[in-house]
Amino acid sequence: MKFISISEAIEKKKGKIAVRGWIYRERGSNKRKFLILRDSTDIIQCVLEREKFEENWEEIDKLQVETSVEIEGIIKADKRAPTGYEISVDKINIIGFSNEFPIQKDLNEELLGDRRHLWLRSRKMTASMKIRSAVLFALHEFSHKNGFIEIQAPSMSGAASEGGSEVFEVNYFGKKAYMTQSWQFYAENFVNAFEKVYAIAPSFRAEKSKTPWHVTEFWHYELEGAWMNLEDDMNIAEKCIVYVIDKILKENKKELEILEADISMLKKVKSPFKKISYKEAVEKLRTKGHKIKYGDDFGSAEERSLAKYYGNSFVFVTNYPLSLLKFYHGEDLKKPGTGTNFNLLAPKIGELVDGSQREPNLDKIIERLKKAKIDLGASNWYLDSRRYGSVPHSGFGLGIERLVAWICGFDTIKDAIPFPRTPNRFNP
Ligand code: 4AD
Ligand code: MG
Repeated sequence: MKFISISEAIEKKKGKIAVRGWIYRERGSNKRKFLILRDSTDIIQCVLEREKFEENWEEIDKLQVETSVEIEGIIKADKRAPTGYEISVDKINIIGFSNEFPIQKDLNEELLGDRRHLWLRSRKMTASMKIRSAVLFALHEFSHKNGFIEIQAPSMSGAASEGGSEVFEVNYFGKKAYMTQSWQFYAENFVNAFEKVYAIAPSFRAEKSKTPWHVTEFWHYELEGAWMNLEDDMNIAEKCIVYVIDKILKENKKELEILEADISMLKKVKSPFKKISYKEAVEKLRTKGHKIKYGDDFGSAEERSLAKYYGNSFVFVTNYPLSLLKFYHGEDLKKPGTGTNFNLLAPKIGELVDGSQREPNLDKIIERLKKAKIDLGASNWYLDSRRYGSVPHSGFGLGIERLVAWICGFDTIKDAIPFPRTPNRFNP
C-alpha cells in the first residue's frame, strides 16, 4: 500500500490506509495496545487487538516510545482519540527499535538542553519550528513583494560592525577576524548599487547576558533602502510585522493551537502602531514610578513596561539622545541632539526591531567616530558609501527568534530556535 501522511489519513476520515512514523505514546493491557503515532504532520491513535497479533504479541507489548513503525489499518472517527480519529491496525512493521527515550516529563532545563536533538521531536518544538519556518518564508515574501532583493554579507570579516566587546574573534589563517554582529556596513554600501536590499542571516553576539531574550547566535532580518527616511523605515517595519502575523494567523492555526498561543493578542496587531519619542517615554516611565532620567538607556524592564503602558501592544520609540546611539545613526535636525532612529518595543519582550535613518554626511560621521574614539580599522571601506554618491537611506534589524517567541507566547527565545547558543552552551 502507498503510505500517506497522518494528516492526509485524518482528512480521508475512513477506509484502509497505510501510515508510518514514530511512537509518541504507548499504553496497553493484556488485550490491546494503544499507540499514538506521530509523523511530521500530526498524531493519531492506533489500536492493536491482541487476537489479531497473537504471534508477535510479546514484541508489540514491549514497544517503546520513539520506535519507528509502518502501519496498515482502517481509520475511523473516534471522539475519545486525541485528534478525533483512530486506526484499527491490521499490520505493523517495526522499522527501528528505540531504547528507553531519555526525555520524560519534568526534565530540568540543563538536561533538556543536553538532549535538545531529541527534544526537537516534541509537539511543542515541532509546532514552534513550523511557525519559525513560516515566519522566515513570510519575511522573504514580504521583502520581494515590496521590491527588496536578497543580498548576503559575509559572516566573518576583519573588523566588528556594532563594536564593543560583544564580538567573537576567530583565527583566520593566523590573522584576527570577527563573526558578524550585523550586515549593516555591507548593507549601506549595497544600497548604492541595488537601492532596496534585505538579508536573513545569523548574527553573533559575545554578550554574557542571561536574559530569556538573548542568545549568542540569533537570526537577523535586516533591511536597508536608499531614499528612505525614518518615517518610511518605520512604515516598512510595521507593515512587515502586520504581514507576518496575519499570515501566521491564517496559515498556522494548528500550530498556534498546539502551543496554546494567545490568538486575541495576535489579532490585536493592526496598523498604525503607536509612536512616541524617547523624551515622552522617559516622562511616562517617571509618572509610573520608574527611576529613570533623560539620557539613561532603557533596560528591558522599562521597554516591556512601555509596551504595556501604551495599549499592551507594539510601540515605536523614536529620537533617542545621540549619546545613546551609534556613530552611523543620523541626527534629527528638527530636534538637535536626538537621532533619526527608532526601537520597536513589544509587550513581554521589549526591543524587537532597531532601525534608523543613517547619517549621510562623511564629515559628520568622522567627527562622531572621533568623539566616540572608534577606529574603523579594517572596516574603513564602509565610509566609501559616503564618499561616492551618498544618498539618504534607512534600515533596520529584527531578531527573528524574538518575533517567533512573541507570536508563540513563549517565555524565552530559546524555544524559538532549534539549537540555542548561550554563554554556557554550544553543544549539541
Ligand atoms: O539592536 P541591534 O543590535 O541593531 C543592529 O544590529 C543594527 N545594525 C540593525 C540594523 O539597523 N540593520 O539588533 C537588532 C535586533 C534587536 O532589536 C533584537 O530584536 C535582535 O536584533 N537582537 C537579538 N536577538 C537575540 N539575541 C540577541 N543577543 C540579540 N541582539 C539583538
Ligand atoms: Mg538595539
